[in-house]
Amino acid sequence: MKYKLIYTLFILTVAFLIGNSFIIENPYFKISSKDVKLKIPKGFPKPLYSFKKNKLKADIFILGRKLFYDNILSKDNSVNCGTCHQRIAAFAHIDHKLSHGIYAKIGTRNVPALQNLIWKDAYMWDGGVNNLEVQPINPITSPIEMDETLENVITKIKRDTTYVKLFKKAYKDTLINSERILKSLAQFTGLMISANSRYDKFMRKQDTFSIAEKNGLALFRAKCESCHKEPLFTDNSYRNNGIKLDSSLNDFGRGKLTEIEKDYRTFKVPGLRNIERTYPYMHDGRFKTLKEVIAHYSNAASHDQGSDSLIKKIGVLNTQEKKELHAFLLTLTDLEFLLDRRFADPNGLQY
Ligand code: HEC
Ligand code: HEC
Repeated sequence: MKYKLIYTLFILTVAFLIGNSFIIENPYFKISSKDVKLKIPKGFPKPLYSFKKNKLKADIFILGRKLFYDNILSKDNSVNCGTCHQRIAAFAHIDHKLSHGIYAKIGTRNVPALQNLIWKDAYMWDGGVNNLEVQPINPITSPIEMDETLENVITKIKRDTTYVKLFKKAYKDTLINSERILKSLAQFTGLMISANSRYDKFMRKQDTFSIAEKNGLALFRAKCESCHKEPLFTDNSYRNNGIKLDSSLNDFGRGKLTEIEKDYRTFKVPGLRNIERTYPYMHDGRFKTLKEVIAHYSNAASHDQGSDSLIKKIGVLNTQEKKELHAFLLTLTDLEFLLDRRFADPNGLQY
């Protein structure tokens, strides 16, 4: 009996030590100051979000990462940012048309990828939020996403000894407030930078393209570039790209926000990096494959009446052109970003 107890205690101690060392010491999850530096990729413009008032620091980034992957941000501790924003999908939600939140509630829009956010002047499909630091308030307080209040989040965090230690390490004093929570999250999401796809390497003359990929790039520049501007593959404008209104969702996009006529049914032009991984496509996830997306652009007869004049200009693509365009889009997959250990779930639960 006595030995059994000692044995159990021994096993529990070993399990505790292994568990702890896995989380704290595993080199895969270890973040040092050189991991938390902003390097502007060659050819990229000046970022629109500046870290000047949110100075990058390893311990703040680590705190942001913990928060991003922590269910503590939701009312019933069931949902975290990473539930909807999955690393394998460039932080979109793979294979989900509309977002899935707390209490198994279905949202009204497709989860967008999180990448190159510091070059955006506004966030959400309709540009409803214009500050990266403020953005997380939306999912945290949305009744169909995390259904929590910032006050409750702060109370829960203050009760958690690990967080108390992390805040102290990050900010050098014991203050825990919403500004610090939001700033830490912005360091984590702001450093999600994708700039090492085969396309980037081709542009830097470090890789070659097949003939199909080269032709695809030329076609892209002729037909798509006017909105999906390189190197971010968006010009940050709002457009109607010809998809028809889904009458079950009645999403009027930017227009609902501004109530300006020309904005009705327009959505923010999404950047197309890692597009192979971020399916399904469009604000409502209506297209499952890139083939369907390309077929949509090539079929003017199916277009919405209010579609942008640049969409009308695309014209019909033949089978070979469609294949070439598709081949080019696949060169935007950035494995270095998708496998970047800095953005992995430190609990080892999501890869
Ligand atoms: C229930 C799913 C869900 C959860 C949880 C969630 N998001 Fe999102 N996120 C979305 C959806 C859907 C959108 C787009 C909403 C829209 O356009 O109206 C979005 C948009 C964003 C954007 C804007 C991206 C862009 O390019 O416009 C950022 C940044 C973001 N989320 C970060 C976070 C962070 C940080 C958390 C955790 C605090 C979080 N999200 C939690 C579903 C979710
Ligand atoms: C007039 C501007 C415009 C042009 C030209 C244009 N697009 Fe788009 N594209 C958009 C907008 C706006 C969206 C988002 C629409 C929505 O969700 O309602 C979009 C969405 C997409 C998506 C889905 C992205 C995602 O994350 O869901 C892909 C892929 C895409 N476009 C590829 C292309 C290709 C390929 C071409 C050229 C054949 C092209 N686009 C031409 C404006 C444009």
